[in-house]
Amino acid sequence: MPDRTFFTTAIDYTNAAPHIGHAYEKVLTDVLARFERLCRRPVYFLTGVDQHGQKVQQSAEKEGLSPLEFAEQCTAKFLALWSTLGVEFDGWAATTHPLHKQAVQRILQRLFEDGQLYKQGHRGFYSVRQEQFLTDKERNEAGEFGPEWGQVVELEEENYYFRLSAHKDWLLSFIDTHEKFVLPAFRRLELRNAVERLSGDLCISRPKKRLSWGIELPFDPEFVTYVWFDALINYISFAGYLADPGSGLPEFRSLWPAKAHVIGKDILIPAHGVYWPIMLHAIGFSDDEIPTLLVHGWWNISGAKMSKSLGNAVDPVVLAERYGVSALRYYLMADISTGRDADFSEERLRMRFNDELANNVGNLLNRSLNMAHRYRQGILRAATTTDADLLALSEGEAPRAVAAYTQAMEHYQIDASLEAAVGLARTCNQLIESSAPWKLAKDPDQAARLDAVLYHLAEALRLVAILLSPVLPEAALGILAQLNVAAPPHLADAVWGGLPDGHLLGTPVPLFPRLEAPPAAAD
Ligand code: MSP
Repeated sequence: MPDRTFFTTAIDYTNAAPHIGHAYEKVLTDVLARFERLCRRPVYFLTGVDQHGQKVQQSAEKEGLSPLEFAEQCTAKFLALWSTLGVEFDGWAATTHPLHKQAVQRILQRLFEDGQLYKQGHRGFYSVRQEQFLTDKERNEAGEFGPEWGQVVELEEENYYFRLSAHKDWLLSFIDTHEKFVLPAFRRLELRNAVERLSGDLCISRPKKRLSWGIELPFDPEFVTYVWFDALINYISFAGYLADPGSGLPEFRSLWPAKAHVIGKDILIPAHGVYWPIMLHAIGFSDDEIPTLLVHGWWNISGAKMSKSLGNAVDPVVLAERYGVSALRYYLMADISTGRDADFSEERLRMRFNDELANNVGNLLNRSLNMAHRYRQGILRAATTTDADLLALSEGEAPRAVAAYTQAMEHYQIDASLEAAVGLARTCNQLIESSAPWKLAKDPDQAARLDAVLYHLAEALRLVAILLSPVLPEAALGILAQLNVAAPPHLADAVWGGLPDGHLLGTPVPLFPRLEAPPAAAD
């Protein structure tokens, strides 16, 4: 068994700048990894870039650059974005890395020697955009290859094929017996139907005369490896699979199997749901060593697909500058349910931030600290209380919120986990209204009640900060600093009563200033 929880993401094509969809997937996985750290469970988060293939070669040609120069330029944009967005990964999978190339070639050599690969000639129609030969199944009702295939040319060439269909029955029974192979469940059914229809083998080579930007086949230097075959292997190559001792890569058995490959719905069928498990199976991985695919939905624009070619791609760099990283991370995690699609809207980004963070959590922090300073010089009293409304918070609402949060996080439902955290803050704002500390402060007989209310507000805020920390690491530290809590967030500390009697609170500083629409808003 691995000793670390291992998450991977899809590796992004380096043929264009990152958009909000790429950012979503990486922030989602960052949040999952941060939750593991919050639970003090060892975690390893691998992400990276898919630098080979025809698209990169073509984009590089257009720019007058070598494929490597172009891929590296593009890679730098992804790396800069992850640093801006606080995406903290442990391993970086860039497929031009020599150790990755070595692993891909070792795997190909093994499969070749094992009879899993064979060479064959083929004449047919080839989609340049999708980098694949087309069959009659791909023709539309008019009998043509539709615009989604881009330029289609007739080609004849020899290539190497991987015996995919030999493993079809195994894959069907694997899907049937492994409920958790694909999450959410409806995607598993979709995949099963696709596998039923599977026929033929997978072409895993490209002749160098047509495409030179790839990893050379170790047994035939006239060919490079098909980009998907190369890219999928990143999940094991960068985890140390088949690496020599002292390579600097992790110890493979300490990581594998990955707990989840986090991918978008467009790359489930056939790449991750068909090719990848069959590749692992053919290399000799057991059924228990095949990771779960966590399939997320898409961010669309008014229901339509976002893409560079349509000119509607949302630039995360612009949004982070305009609204700040906290607002962007919060929106991307709160306004989509993992597995489903969502519509991206700047107006909703502002609205959710203002309603849930500025007016709710931020306001609670500010009011609570101000009152504690005004009435009690910032000092908390931790006496026991019998007040029903306060007990309902400390013994009911707060532990329920922590439990609901944990349950949602363990099931990758980040939106629900945020609702639990924000809901607790909302309850506290209501408590301020109903208990009216400004009235209590005027009545000496209510001194104990006022102390208890102020303690409850501060203590609930401490829990809210811990719960928000995977999504809003900086803001959570900001809340804790204002509460004068130095310990880094730890889920085990999210139990009532952590602030000691006599605790001195820090000074309030606005953390979530309200967002305004920019003068010429894009939406
Ligand atoms: N390079 C391949 C993946 C190889 S993994 C071995 C690829 N790259 S990609 O750049 O096109 O997409 C990277 C990830 O971003 C994919 O998981 C994809 O689903 C995701 N997204 C791309 N557009 C998206 C949205 N609009 N919304 C959410 N995620 C989307 O595919």
